[in-house]
Amino acid sequence: MTGVCSTRNVGLVRSLGADQVIDCKRDDYTRSGQHFDLILDNVRNHSLLANRKVLNPGGKLVMIGGSSGNWLGPLTRPIAGLRLSPFMGQDFAMLLARLKPDDLAMLGDLMRAGKVTPVIDRRYALSEVPEAIRYSEEGHARGKIIVKVQ
Ligand SMILES: NC(=O)c1ccc[n+]([C@@H]2O[C@H](COP(=O)([O-])OP(=O)(O)OC[C@H]3O[C@@H](n4cnc5c(N)ncnc54)[C@H](OP(=O)(O)O)[C@@H]3O)[C@@H](O)[C@H]2O)c1
Repeated sequence: MTGVCSTRNVGLVRSLGADQVIDCKRDDYTRSGQHFDLILDNVRNHSLLANRKVLNPGGKLVMIGGSSGNWLGPLTRPIAGLRLSPFMGQDFAMLLARLKPDDLAMLGDLMRAGKVTPVIDRRYALSEVPEAIRYSEEGHARGKIIVKVQ
């Protein structure tokens, strides 16, 4: 498993279990000469074409991260990918989180069992929500920002 992150997060991503870490400030995974079976794109910094070139035949690209714009903007690339997917011999999919209590409970179980390691950057009290949102909007949180309700 290969992780891609900025320089300051290389150690963190390695500690989470990545076999190889690519520092996106120095190297570009779409130009590394490597090919992948599955790409989980949390950032969408690269075009569909660039990702397609480094996907193995039969590989899958899952688009998770947002791109520019608040409403339809972030959906344009995933929709193009979904339309092209049947013709490419590769699978393009979009992941949109649906917040369901059962899924959160399952995540909690996986964490308790040590199978998922959460990364928590900062914790805020409910009264500090504006500060938490400001920090989130800076776009540099390392993992999750927690608001403690009680
Ligand atoms: N599909 C869905 O349902 C769904 C749901 C939630 C979130 N998302 C998406 O998931 C992504 C992550 O969201 P988030 O809430 O965790 O916060 P975020 O603020 O988007 O992520 C911040 C982190 O991303 C790193 N980062 C920024 N650009 C990067 C790049 N080009 N390559 C590697 N790392 C990069 C930052 O590192 P530096 O600080 O060093 O720049 C920082 O550690 C976002 O794109 C968001 O739109 C999707």
